[in-house]
Amino acid sequence: MNFHDTEKIVGILKREGYIPTDEPKKADLIVFNTCSIRKKPEEKLFSALGRLKPLKRQKPSLKIAVCGCIAQQQGSELLKRAPHIDYIFGPQNIGRLPHILSMDTVIMTEDNPELPLEDLPAERVNGVKASVTVMFGCDNFCSYCVVPYTRGREVSRPLKKIVEEVRALAEEGYKEIQLLGQNVNSYRDGEYDFAELLRHINDIKGIERIRFITSHPRDLSEKLIRTVAELEKVCEHLHLPIQSGSDRILALMNRGYTYAEYKRKVDLLRHYIPEIAITTDIISGFPSETEEDHILTIKALEDIQYDGIFAFKYSPRPGTKAAEMQEQIPEEIKSRRLSEILKLQDSITLKKNNALIGSIQEVLVEGKNEAGEPMARTRTNKIVILDKELPEETIINVQITEARIHSLTGRVI
Ligand code: 5AD
Ligand code: SF4
Repeated sequence: MNFHDTEKIVGILKREGYIPTDEPKKADLIVFNTCSIRKKPEEKLFSALGRLKPLKRQKPSLKIAVCGCIAQQQGSELLKRAPHIDYIFGPQNIGRLPHILSMDTVIMTEDNPELPLEDLPAERVNGVKASVTVMFGCDNFCSYCVVPYTRGREVSRPLKKIVEEVRALAEEGYKEIQLLGQNVNSYRDGEYDFAELLRHINDIKGIERIRFITSHPRDLSEKLIRTVAELEKVCEHLHLPIQSGSDRILALMNRGYTYAEYKRKVDLLRHYIPEIAITTDIISGFPSETEEDHILTIKALEDIQYDGIFAFKYSPRPGTKAAEMQEQIPEEIKSRRLSEILKLQDSITLKKNNALIGSIQEVLVEGKNEAGEPMARTRTNKIVILDKELPEETIINVQITEARIHSLTGRVI
């Protein structure tokens, strides 16, 4: 979501006549798009801002903007540590960038009721996969999470606007669309729900693959699962954040499901879509998490056998309920639990990837990876290093010849 916001910022700036540069010295404007989901990015922001101080002194006409969730949350407080910031604005106010830049200094953190109707130009970095926002904000108030406070109330974009955007992307040549929302399963535009939206996008000529993030387990319906199974363009991958395997912790997190209810959704997914890859997010060391709770999470990983996970140490966020809870867990315990989780999952991922050796997979060529090797992706979202170079966007079958934790190797057939 944050990454796609940056694409919108760059799109707006280009329309305003700005040209990107990699050299801060040449810049007239430097924009930091920030994330505050955990503490670490905040520290990174302040050290980056600190490094810019001498430049700003030498060149007072340089404008520095901080936007995104840290800007939304801290507003003018940011100026105490970094008085050389000129513009501060939240994620809902990206569309007002031209207006902001017309002024000398601005702090803009108010809600934007126009958000779902705005058409912002996005300068997409990835030439193969295009992200498209379907909804903004979040109403879930998971007790650890800052998003409902920074991105505001949940609101869906009209189906018509989303379809128009995807049609235009198809005409530009994009083959893969990634639909974005904090909780796409609660998408609604009048009579249309998310399953209906998927149907409309599935009908658009030129689009070959459809993905979406993120699904909230509580709102994932059997209807949606059947729609994903039925629509040929919707890929066989679902990111379904579990957060914890302990019912006690899930309740404290305000997640709205028990482990048994979550597992039932996984079973339904695998029933209708046997080849589906499932990935998840886990938080380790949530306040009051005992060794027993942690073991329940480990057991959940063993039981469900995810294709991959993103796991994080719990990070207290100011203003959230969990940050106020007694029994915060010491860092060493969080770290130890996190490494146990990651180690177990590595062995599961490797085992699952090994099981794919010899199989035939449809891949979409994405170009090259950082090591310069030709790279593609399966419908299940696994990276495949190819034995030969092919033009970007080619869709082709490969036979898997090798497996590692983070990638497979494939022979083009
Ligand atoms: N601490 C650690 N991880 C968090 N996440 C959200 N808030 C926090 C926090 N305070 C994780 C959740 C979510 C993912 C995007 O980030 O696992 O699914
Ligand atoms: Fe945060 Fe929960 Fe909303 Fe996800 S669903 S953005 S974790 S409040």
